[in-house]
Amino acid sequence: MTIELIPLPLPPTADSSKFATFGREVKGVNPCSCTPDELEAVREALYRHGALLFRNVSLTPEQQYSLTKVFDPNSDNFGHGNNKIDTNKESILHHDLKTIPRVPQVQLIGNGITCHKTVVSPEDEANDITRFYRWHMDAALYDLSPPRVTTLHAIQVPKGPKQTVRYDDGTGDELVVPLGTTAFVSGQTMFQILPAKLKSVAVRAKVKYAPHPYVWMARSHVRSPGIGLESEGLEKSLDELPPWTEEKIKVYPVLWKNPVTKDLSFQVHPGAAAEIIISPLPNGIVREEGDMYPDGAHITKLKDVRDLLYKMQRPGIAPSLVYPHDWHENDLVLFHNRGTLHSVVGTFKPDQVRIFHQCNLAASDDPIGPSDEDVMRWA
Ligand SMILES: [Fe+2]
Repeated sequence: MTIELIPLPLPPTADSSKFATFGREVKGVNPCSCTPDELEAVREALYRHGALLFRNVSLTPEQQYSLTKVFDPNSDNFGHGNNKIDTNKESILHHDLKTIPRVPQVQLIGNGITCHKTVVSPEDEANDITRFYRWHMDAALYDLSPPRVTTLHAIQVPKGPKQTVRYDDGTGDELVVPLGTTAFVSGQTMFQILPAKLKSVAVRAKVKYAPHPYVWMARSHVRSPGIGLESEGLEKSLDELPPWTEEKIKVYPVLWKNPVTKDLSFQVHPGAAAEIIISPLPNGIVREEGDMYPDGAHITKLKDVRDLLYKMQRPGIAPSLVYPHDWHENDLVLFHNRGTLHSVVGTFKPDQVRIFHQCNLAASDDPIGPSDEDVMRWA
């Protein structure tokens, strides 16, 4: 059988010029019984297109784990560590993920809860207004390396009318989405649309993540458009956290290189970021007025860290750049977790139940940042 790749249907809100390569439905192959050649074609398609959809798939948690492992055969642990989230009640993820006992790499995800500073009023909720919960990639960002791929299998999809995501950040931006969608944006687009001066910052910057970031940020509120956190001083102090050590703290480049296309993706978990380290403009780059941080910087004030990340990431979640997947039961979506960000969306009534199986594996390596050539090109 040959693998057929069909562009995913885009909503009318999407700017199709920005989705030329993003997202494909895969036909002609059963993801659970692929030959090695077919698996290689799926692997390459995933890195080329960021997200792959298989429809009408029945697979057990064991099969889902095996399929996820194809992308990183040397990894055995769930992205946050096996059985770690269920036992850590202080983590914000404790409410969202439940481990499947016999396959601890696979999690059951339900309806989820939001934690924005301001909430959508009950009247607006009744009118199907909602928010992005939290734009993120799936990664512990402490001790363990970010998973390459996440697989999501829709077991039960809530039924109901479309909802409208309101960004509520003063822009008036809104986006109509299917109930219970998972929304995706491309990290490559997030980088590509930045003005040159911010591209220069991005290519020179690294992010230092907080230790145990999901415990650290447990009391913080999400900004209204779901990207990053409000700076209200609500983070736990370092001595309130579970025991941690400096060498397990993660420092990653802001831009990560796609292993197949070599494109750069803006890959930052904005809520977990604690500091930004920016290198000076390299020798050989002519300095101009308007250069940002030409001599480099180490930004440690949390509000400044978050404001800079927001400035660079908010444009990338504009309504025209979001792919909200319209889930059908038995859809299987594989996404490149090192080249996309995603968010759960939706406000549910008690009878609107959302049951998904999710699997990702803490990677056997760390992401690769920009090369010296990339720095010279974009700085
Ligand atoms: Fe996720």
